[in-house]
Amino acid sequence: MKKIGVITSGGDAPGMNAAVRAVVRAALSRGAEVVGFSHGYEGIIHNESQPLESAQVGGIIDRGGTFLRTARSRTFMTPEGREQAYNVLLQNGCEGLVVIGGDGSLTGALKLLEEFDYPVMGVPGSIDNDISGTDFSIGFDTAVNTAVQAIDRVRDTAYSHERVFVIEVMGRRNGFIALEAGLAGGAEAILIPEVPFSIPDVCALLRSAAERGKRSSIVVVAEGAARAEDIKDFIEHNTKFETRHVVLGHMQRGGSPSAFDRVLALRLGAMATNRLLSGYRGEMAGVDGNKLVSHPLSYVLSTERQIDPERLILSDSMSI
Ligand code: F6P
Repeated sequence: MKKIGVITSGGDAPGMNAAVRAVVRAALSRGAEVVGFSHGYEGIIHNESQPLESAQVGGIIDRGGTFLRTARSRTFMTPEGREQAYNVLLQNGCEGLVVIGGDGSLTGALKLLEEFDYPVMGVPGSIDNDISGTDFSIGFDTAVNTAVQAIDRVRDTAYSHERVFVIEVMGRRNGFIALEAGLAGGAEAILIPEVPFSIPDVCALLRSAAERGKRSSIVVVAEGAARAEDIKDFIEHNTKFETRHVVLGHMQRGGSPSAFDRVLALRLGAMATNRLLSGYRGEMAGVDGNKLVSHPLSYVLSTERQIDPERLILSDSMSI
């Protein structure tokens, strides 16, 4: 392969810039050119292309967001949109494409492979960490650290006013961010969609904590489990503890990537590119333990990532 394309697609995640940098520099070091398309699949369809040289990806390793910009393309979800994208890739001389994004973006990559036999490689980039085939997706570590910093700040005011705080974190349908941030933030209760919970039980837990002398508590709730405001209303009404809620929202997507996310992005971006240039296709680069792995996209997208049961037990035993 002499030329490949690269996009960042779906929700941005800290570390996506480092991943693009890795794709470009790995390709250049093997004598291949890289074309960057802005706005994900939407930018391929509208041919928003630019050649990416080494200099273009200099000075971005520490930057949050994605300098290529991103989008969730509705047009690409149609067969006509995908055909247009395929034709634009060919017009640009791209013999393969690296897609950096979450499960929706990787599903799009698999469609290009299945419908046009077009070589694609995936790099998992999502704060949600809900992608199978890798222990970590790019951006998760940074988002968790951002959430933990926020929880720490909220704990200060919760302590001072002797209040209960319900803090809502992102994660779409999953609770990976909530569980990790809740554990690290020392939350009294962590509510995630994967595990059934009852708010009366949470109230009982808060009451028993109060009886033991705890005067403030933190409840972390995943956005996919419930609305923080509803939980707050229920707790306040049923326990009479003064309660407030905070929705962390998109602040979890921004900020400079952690060292962990930068190195992860470099490793996964370079691996996906090297494998694409070596003739592999339809895979996603990932990490298993500390080892690099590459799994078929068909496997990755048909497998549900599971919550770690050991962490669940830990969260229960830590809230006593
Ligand atoms: O997938 C990343 C994510 O931040 C989710 O955690 C969240 O549910 C969603 O994207 C928000 O999407 P949008 O930026 O389109 O509101």
